[in-house]
Amino acid sequence: MALFNQQYATCFLLSLCILSQCLTEGVIGFACNWGTRSTHPLTPQIVVRLMKDNGFNKVKLFEADPGALKALGRSGIQVMVGIPNDMLDSLASNVNAAIAWVTQNVSTYISKNGVDIRYVAVGNEAFLKTYNGRFVNATFPAIQNIQAALIKAGLGRQVKVTTPLNADVYQSDSGLPSGGNFRPDIQDQMINIIKFLRQNGGPLTFNIYPFLSMDADPNFPKEFAFFDGSASPVVDGSITYTNVFDANFDTLVSALEKNGFSSMPIIVGEVGWPTDGSANANIKNAQRFNQGLFDRIVKKQGTPKRTTAPDIYVFGLIDEDAKSIEPGPFERHWGVFNFDGSIKYPLNLGGGKSLVAAKGVKYLPKQWCVMSNQANPTDPSFADSISKACTYADCTSLSPGASCGNLDPKGNASYAFNMYYQTMDQRKDACNFNGLSAITTINPSPPQGSCKFEIMIDLGKHENKSTTSFAASMKGTCSMVMLVLSFMFTMLVSIISA
Ligand SMILES: *[C@@H]1O[C@H](CO)[C@@H](O)[C@H](O)[C@H]1NC(C)=O
Ligand SMILES: *[C@@H]1O[C@H](CO)[C@@H](O)[C@H](O)[C@H]1NC(C)=O
Ligand SMILES: *[C@@H]1O[C@H](CO)[C@@H](O)[C@H](O)[C@H]1NC(C)=O
Ligand SMILES: *[C@@H]1O[C@H](CO)[C@@H](O)[C@H](O)[C@H]1NC(C)=O
Repeated sequence: MALFNQQYATCFLLSLCILSQCLTEGVIGFACNWGTRSTHPLTPQIVVRLMKDNGFNKVKLFEADPGALKALGRSGIQVMVGIPNDMLDSLASNVNAAIAWVTQNVSTYISKNGVDIRYVAVGNEAFLKTYNGRFVNATFPAIQNIQAALIKAGLGRQVKVTTPLNADVYQSDSGLPSGGNFRPDIQDQMINIIKFLRQNGGPLTFNIYPFLSMDADPNFPKEFAFFDGSASPVVDGSITYTNVFDANFDTLVSALEKNGFSSMPIIVGEVGWPTDGSANANIKNAQRFNQGLFDRIVKKQGTPKRTTAPDIYVFGLIDEDAKSIEPGPFERHWGVFNFDGSIKYPLNLGGGKSLVAAKGVKYLPKQWCVMSNQANPTDPSFADSISKACTYADCTSLSPGASCGNLDPKGNASYAFNMYYQTMDQRKDACNFNGLSAITTINPSPPQGSCKFEIMIDLGKHENKSTTSFAASMKGTCSMVMLVLSFMFTMLVSIISA
């Protein structure tokens, strides 16, 4: 009888341990942005599994991408679906356009595909100063029409409306967070939008970029960009700020307080750090910044003025080699993961977990297009050839200060030729630069440093079938364990009381 008891007790303890593991498992949850501006995107199935394997349970899409949405169906991941700015005018002027948008891009995916859509993000940084007011008048009416369409579709409770804004919609005349207020030119629009969102239970969404603050201003105190920085703190009344994220977020909180919205919920729609394309965009800085960010998310840490942690959507999940580089060459390198879902740098995700790479990715053969040994940089077609390659392929890693910014002219040409060749799926005629190039099976990446001559994803060979992820099977196991546990507990109680 004693032995019997002991066995049950051991079992019970073991189950408790597993149970507590299961419970923490459910608590850790990251959110990310999934951009799809890539010449060679991973299949949506691989991306969804990548998210699940790494504990991302919320995702923001920049538009209603059918492949992404279908893959997110019944995945357990909550979705924010974006509406691009170029649709704002028509959505603003015509409620039927909004109804059609909601029918096609929300209702159908919820009812037919089981997608857990929680938010519609109307526009993307529509009030950005550089747009010169282009979308300022359309944003609020578009928000109103989408809200009306959601209510009409019976989704008013389930799906909330928001609009991701850039942090340049607020400012502080005193330079301190407590001086925060909205930019005067959009003050009225902001108040209207916030009132409306508050009435309908929608949150505010803001993108905060310490990297951009630092990259734009050579005098920016670098250490202040990081969460573990040793910058001299900014003292604002009784609050001491040690990093620009907190200071920026609280500038917004102050702006909201001043206008009577002190309890308005806030989502951080984008925040992150790029790894290439400029001197500050490197692996070391990105790892340092994102590790600090993930630590805060795991600890559920808020800011001095708003101590409850906001939802934070990391930007981004994977690199996008076809994104516009208008903001700078770094724009294609914001991913926590490389374009192929491989790991750039380790991150501690809390609970003893670290990043897991994408699974099932198929690559083109291990061959590269490089400048041939016979060719010479003095060749009259040399510059034109590089320029042609870089018009169609991503050469941002060749930028000054970037990972391949120190190559000699020959290495430079090889890098450009190879990117073109890979982007064109290693087509035979794609390694033909006026006789300057040749194909090699020896990896031309410099042995030292982070410059990497890539091999592209093979778009034809992906495993498209959706595989059950480890996280999903763990969830199943957890329910099982909990069932068995409650059974055993009953047994144990009856044995003890017997
Ligand atoms: C649904 O979203 C997609 C992607 O943004 C867009 O192309 C399409 O026009 C939208 N549908 C409607 C009816 O607006
Ligand atoms: C927005 O509306 C205001 C007021 O009606 C008008 O003065 C302004 O020109 C409009 N802006 C744009 C970009 O259409
Ligand atoms: C390498 O190529 C890039 C892109 O064309 C160019 O901007 C850069 O000046 C080149 N560097 C060298 C060392 O040739
Ligand atoms: C997988 O999907 C991609 C893009 O959706 C398609 O081009 C490819 O043919 C598919 N591969 C297989 C093996 O079905």
